[in-house]
Amino acid sequence: MKKNIGTALSLYPTPTVVIGSMVEGKPTWTLVAHIGIMGHDHVTVSLAQLHYINQGIKASNTLSINVVDESWLAAADRMGCISGNSVDKSEMFDYCVGEKGTPMINDAKLSIECEVEANHETKGFDNFICTIAGTYAEEGILNDQGKVDYHKFKPVLFEMPTYEYFKTGDVIGNCMRMEVK
Ligand SMILES: Cc1cc2nc3c(=O)[nH]c(=O)nc-3n(C[C@H](O)[C@H](O)[C@H](O)COP(=O)(O)O)c2cc1C
Repeated sequence: MKKNIGTALSLYPTPTVVIGSMVEGKPTWTLVAHIGIMGHDHVTVSLAQLHYINQGIKASNTLSINVVDESWLAAADRMGCISGNSVDKSEMFDYCVGEKGTPMINDAKLSIECEVEANHETKGFDNFICTIAGTYAEEGILNDQGKVDYHKFKPVLFEMPTYEYFKTGDVIGNCMRMEVK
């Protein structure tokens, strides 16, 4: 028997990313775990409206998603502890600029440049619905077909109840080729 534990958010763990955007010509970075996929060509990013970065996203209609792995987790975590409202985060990472003008973190092996198509506001939150303008991946995380190889690249996952980070683990099955025992 399952127990109803109420309206608790429990769709975890989710990938941990650092969102990048330009504010007044300087990059700023915010740690985010409430991201998602819509259809086959849209992603969502949910950001509290009081966050500093939102103004840059709204002004440019662009953002970058920098997928966190263990190698730079501590620096990424810091982007969830301090706000651009009180600290200048523009010097926190070495970065390059994508074709749409978003800053992308050099430490991130995988960065996704997005254009914002819509903002679905919920109480206190901007929920940006984005299209993907470009995906920038280090050669070392790609397979022979040029796709991201998640045996090599292990995104960090986050879950809210304990505020702990995980990383993706072992292969446990081949999709659509599972045997029901
Ligand atoms: C692990 C973790 C995940 C977070 N995920 C989100 C999130 O999904 N949405 C959000 O609005 N804030 C999230 N935050 C909080 C922001 O990262 C944090 O408040 C940050 O300082 C805001 O920065 P800014 O004001 O410079 O934009 C998260 C923080 C941590 C530590």
